[in-house]
Amino acid sequence: MKNTAGVKAPQSFLKKLVCSGCSKNYPHTRVQTLCQACGAPLLAEYDTKAIGACVKPAGLRERESSIWRYREFLPLPQDAQPVSLREGCTPLFVLPREGKRLKLDNLWLKDESKNPGFTFKARGMSVAVSLALQLKLDRLALRSAGNAGAPFAAYCARAGVKSLIVMPKDAPELTLLACEMLGARVNLSRGTLEDCTQTVQTAVLKDGYFDLSSYQEPYRLEGDKTLGLEIAEGFNWQLPDWVVYPGDGGMGLIGMWKAWRELEEAGFIGKKRPKLLFVQGEGCAGIVNAFNAGEDRAETIANPTGVATGLRVGKTLGDNLILTALKESGGAAIAVPDNAIVNAMRDMARTEGVLAAAEGAASLAGLRKAVEQGLVKKNEQVVLINTNTGLKYANLVR
Ligand SMILES: Cc1ncc(COP(=O)(O)O)c(C=O)c1O
Ligand SMILES: [Zn+2]
Repeated sequence: MKNTAGVKAPQSFLKKLVCSGCSKNYPHTRVQTLCQACGAPLLAEYDTKAIGACVKPAGLRERESSIWRYREFLPLPQDAQPVSLREGCTPLFVLPREGKRLKLDNLWLKDESKNPGFTFKARGMSVAVSLALQLKLDRLALRSAGNAGAPFAAYCARAGVKSLIVMPKDAPELTLLACEMLGARVNLSRGTLEDCTQTVQTAVLKDGYFDLSSYQEPYRLEGDKTLGLEIAEGFNWQLPDWVVYPGDGGMGLIGMWKAWRELEEAGFIGKKRPKLLFVQGEGCAGIVNAFNAGEDRAETIANPTGVATGLRVGKTLGDNLILTALKESGGAAIAVPDNAIVNAMRDMARTEGVLAAAEGAASLAGLRKAVEQGLVKKNEQVVLINTNTGLKYANLVR
């Protein structure tokens, strides 16, 4: 396949999978899950120099409006057809009123609610389902607090593979209905997300499902990474000063951090990185607690609570990677109460016309606190991420 630089590209720029815990290598040509030696997530490693030789920033301009415009940075062989619903290439725009209120000159929103299934999770699902199909997997399972379910079901439907979703009983009803409509088998579980994990593991062992839950395979993170690629391209390859991310398992954050390293290695950007602000709800602030205590692992929260269902995770396999990225970026972690989230959701809707979800509004609530604490300065360029649609949460504002 010829490309923008006129160089013959290899089948894929993906070289291998590397354990994020113990650095053990795994071949990407076979189905992989977590590291068999230490249980940590595997990360995809590319020949980034070769990517840089094959594609240049200007060469992307003519490409399709989806995450697949960054093909060389993705793990699917160059000639394979992705399972795509035109995810990504979401709007990036200024929030003038909120900027004024916070006395920030340069406040932006990346609106991920415009994705298939109304959330950024579509990015990871498009890539992971595409790779699953390549690896001949035909039954996929997911543990989800709700939001990842609809895009998961959508890409499985498009790929023609069976999908099973296990979610807690209190997941937003709209999500449940969407998953069912998209043909997924939905299993509502009592208890926390950890209980859902058990149910998925049973389906893996007894019914031959492959687990696509967070970190259980290496390719969702590659899709989430495109959020970072897109922010870089959106600002013409000059990264902003801050990116504010409403976090849970942290795949989006780790993905962005990885994206910017790969872009630098491929010669697309320089050394500058945004400071990362990781926002959690007060009822599930494991990363915030660990960051503030200077720890490199987070404690498990036994009963995570909060209105933002997508942020309600008690334990993540990415804790160490999140904490490292936050530290390396010179960023911070902040917890916000539910009432601040609901207020931010109402303000985003009424003053900026954006139907932000509780998770997206949490990023605004976190930024408000960071400005109050003097962490974020007036002239800094800040990007908030609305990771989901506010329609699921309209009843909270009412
Ligand atoms: C709407 C929404 N926003 C943000 C997140 C956080 O995702 P991550 O795992 O990347 O931290 C989630 C995760 O479930 C979510 O559903
Ligand atoms: Zn390992």
